[in-house]
Amino acid sequence: MAAAGTGHENWSSRTAFILAAVGSAVGLGNMWRFPAEAGENGGGAFVLFYIFCVLLIGLPVLLSEVLIGRHGQANAPESVRRVARDSKASEGWSILASMGVFAAFLILSFYCVVGGWVVYYIGVFVSDLFQTGLSGGAFEGRAASDIEGLLPGLFGNGGLMVGLNLGFLAVTMFFVARGIASGIEWVAVYLMPLFFVLFLGITIYGAFTGNFSDAVAYLFTFDFSKLTGEVMLAAVGQAFFSLSLGVAGMMTYGAYANRDTNLAETSGIIAGADTAVAMLAGLAIFPIVFAAGLSASVGPGLMFQSLPIAFQAMPFGSLIGLAFFVMVFFAALTSSVSLLEAPTAYVFEKFSFSRPVATLIVGLGAAVLGVLSSLSFNEIAEFRPLGFIPTFAEANFFDALDGVTAKLFMPIGAILTCIFVGWIADAKLIDDENGLDGVLHQTWRVLVRFVCPVALTVILLVGLFG
Ligand code: PHE
Repeated sequence: MAAAGTGHENWSSRTAFILAAVGSAVGLGNMWRFPAEAGENGGGAFVLFYIFCVLLIGLPVLLSEVLIGRHGQANAPESVRRVARDSKASEGWSILASMGVFAAFLILSFYCVVGGWVVYYIGVFVSDLFQTGLSGGAFEGRAASDIEGLLPGLFGNGGLMVGLNLGFLAVTMFFVARGIASGIEWVAVYLMPLFFVLFLGITIYGAFTGNFSDAVAYLFTFDFSKLTGEVMLAAVGQAFFSLSLGVAGMMTYGAYANRDTNLAETSGIIAGADTAVAMLAGLAIFPIVFAAGLSASVGPGLMFQSLPIAFQAMPFGSLIGLAFFVMVFFAALTSSVSLLEAPTAYVFEKFSFSRPVATLIVGLGAAVLGVLSSLSFNEIAEFRPLGFIPTFAEANFFDALDGVTAKLFMPIGAILTCIFVGWIADAKLIDDENGLDGVLHQTWRVLVRFVCPVALTVILLVGLFG
């Protein structure tokens, strides 16, 4: 149903908005990237600095994004334009959101590639469940190297990679094409609670059957000698990705929020839930991995290679493995839906296409890039699309998109958002939207005006040239 005067659908309730935004935030970033990054960057020091980044940089930027959306009540560039117009500022600021929309499109294309791997592992565990039965460990009688080889095996099969990628994208498109109430909100309202149930179950399982105390010690023992510049940079980047910031996604979702929603409170809930899930993901994965005597610092292979090996020695291994990847699938889908919604809302409002047609246009674009990303692990592994830029000289197609969005688009988008909200937009307009007062309001303003833009500029420069 279109909300009065906005010309578009709104969330049916504050809870729906929170579930959708938490759904956007909680995704592969929490389940796959966070534990891998924490493991590669020495555990506790990374975790502590990550929390610090969420509070001091992530949360203020998140509030800035949703408030722009809520004031503008339109797709992200149009929302920025309206805030600028109401502030008597240049409408050219909308470029910050246009860049964001483009970045969301780029991220969508490779996010669905990884979404495809998740689907592959669901298939692996389903077939294993039939082979090894319910109660024993997973992959009975198979060598660890065999299980580890599943991922490279998949990478070597271009047809399957492309098929899984496009399948995941198609499911995402299906829900976005259906609109807010019966699509995006529907996935969030049904899948997020299911996600939380599965997630709690697996964390408790890990705590009882795995090496929980070592995992806690690993994640929460702060060894400050490990806090290098590189670790800090990884932590900020991860915080941004995990909170879905800098790419217009949260602006787009903010536009569907009702006037009476307190945005500061809601942003706090979103950031809190996202961070809690990241921490718990560590507490779910590391006990299982440590119990199997495996290393924490293997990077991206942690979830796709180490964890399946670890399930081999666990009671009900195939079943838990299956539940785990189904849960990750739910989390990934609610995120990919938000990545597709940002560009779709733009195309559909700007060019007056119907929503399904807009979804199809954006989805087809993402499919083309996705095929190139899917093939960049084997068939076109030597292709270096950004070979002329030193920082990205070695990156294949997938890594180039990942690098450009994380190192360029996200920080630049966030810096411009902070400058726009903190310095350019009318202070009264911003204050009417943000739901803050007293000390919190003062603190937020200082963070948005000074701390965030300066910190983000340092991050941008070090990320590019450091
Ligand atoms: N936050 C999502 C995750 O953690 C990814 C994402 C980034 C979604 C940017 C939307 C926008 O997986």
